[in-house]
Amino acid sequence: MTQKTIELIDRATDRKVNLPVHPGTIGPSVIDIAALNKEFGLFTYDPGFGGTASTDSRITYIDGDAGVLLYRGYPVEQLAERSTFTEVAYLLLHGELPSRKQLDEFTGSIRHHTMINESLLRFFHGFHYDAHPMAMVSAVVASMSAFYHDTMDIYSARQREIFAHRIIAKIPTIAAAAHKHALGQPYVYPRNDLDYCSNLLHMLYAVPCEPYEVDPVAAQALDLLFVLHADHEQNASTSTVRLAGSTGTNPYAAIAAGISALWGPAHGGANEAVLNMLEQIGTVDNIPKFLAQAKDKTSHVRLMGFGHRVYKNFDPRAKIIREMCHKVLARLGRSDNPLFELALRLEEIALQDEYFVERKLYPNVDFYSGIIYSAIGIPRSMFTVMFAIARTVGWVAHWAEMISDPAMRIGRPRQLYTGPTRRDYVEITKRA
Ligand code: SDX
Repeated sequence: MTQKTIELIDRATDRKVNLPVHPGTIGPSVIDIAALNKEFGLFTYDPGFGGTASTDSRITYIDGDAGVLLYRGYPVEQLAERSTFTEVAYLLLHGELPSRKQLDEFTGSIRHHTMINESLLRFFHGFHYDAHPMAMVSAVVASMSAFYHDTMDIYSARQREIFAHRIIAKIPTIAAAAHKHALGQPYVYPRNDLDYCSNLLHMLYAVPCEPYEVDPVAAQALDLLFVLHADHEQNASTSTVRLAGSTGTNPYAAIAAGISALWGPAHGGANEAVLNMLEQIGTVDNIPKFLAQAKDKTSHVRLMGFGHRVYKNFDPRAKIIREMCHKVLARLGRSDNPLFELALRLEEIALQDEYFVERKLYPNVDFYSGIIYSAIGIPRSMFTVMFAIARTVGWVAHWAEMISDPAMRIGRPRQLYTGPTRRDYVEITKRA
């Protein structure tokens, strides 16, 4: 498709500028506004970046109106049905589905990087027992840059690959150590004979005094949740990783910044907030009263797990997770899960309410995920840590895509200044 341009005319001065329009392979084209400042001395203004592309990317595509999510062109529904988290990790990192040999090598490399330096385990002793696991995980991930100096040359493809395998392999070990620290139980070392999610469950739940058998239903449910949480284009935490990484900082620091951004209740912290909300609502007959609060702006209450900056239709991940809840709860013998029943009724009633319908607010990925995390024994404070484990793959893929782009520049947004004009200093003796 030939590159088009869009002409802008400044009516005040009749000056014109032609701005290039770049088409994507699918989805909206973008206007390249670089000339706008040069020709007109103007900036664009888009708080929250609702209509601004910060980069081009080949990793993930979302059509918010149609409820479409593609990882490297593959529909997330097909990957959820037929792939595994480690295979999806390879796809997101390398851009193609792996051959059997490539997958075995990748899986093998991840398995042989799961241990963390013993000194890193001692970091947990410095945390109070009731520290939030996200605080511990973000701190320990940032500290990895103090240990792995051999993978800090971000312009070496090989060192970028070692970093990618190390962080994807070690973040479950760090997450499980945070959980064990909170329980006051001994850390459980990773086992190389277990797959990615079975290994995580083993590190979370095993204790030294008796054998522990991973429940395959739980491992399979976790693997599917991780596939669905692996990437989501330029969301707040991924954009944080890109912006931090664009300064040339070490990759562990960039990922730690992403973990901190994900923690917010408007983002990945919503899965924990949904369970708290469901517990606060308690019963179906309290739903109307809660929804009235969520619609009242002065209440600062939101229907957590609902709404999305991009999806103005069902989040395809929410639909898959809702179906998963039925299957996983039945297979775990917990079909009569009251919080799941309440969530289903809450969705049904909200989607009949004009406020949510006219604002196109639908369940997002966080609305049902906590039901499954709870059913497989994950404590609520660890829900966002689970999200971080899965999203580490997307963060690494986007960081690597950016760093390996020769055109990469440091990210530095501009602003609309609305503060005081120039004024001179006044001695304190002369102030009012
Ligand atoms: C994730 O970006 C991603 O891709 C994120 C994510 C990923 O995979 O990385 O998908 C993961 O973060 C999912 C979102 C999880 N967050 C929540 O569930 C928290 C509850 N949702 C919201 O706070 C909100 O919907 C956001 C933050 C998700 C989106 O915020 P926007 O796009 O800035 O929307 P908005 O705040 O401008 O809302 C538009 C209107 C407003 O009302 P009006 O001013 O038009 O009258 O809808 C209202 C909002 O008040 N609104 C809600 C609401 N969400 C939006 N009202 C009540 N409850 C809600 N949940």
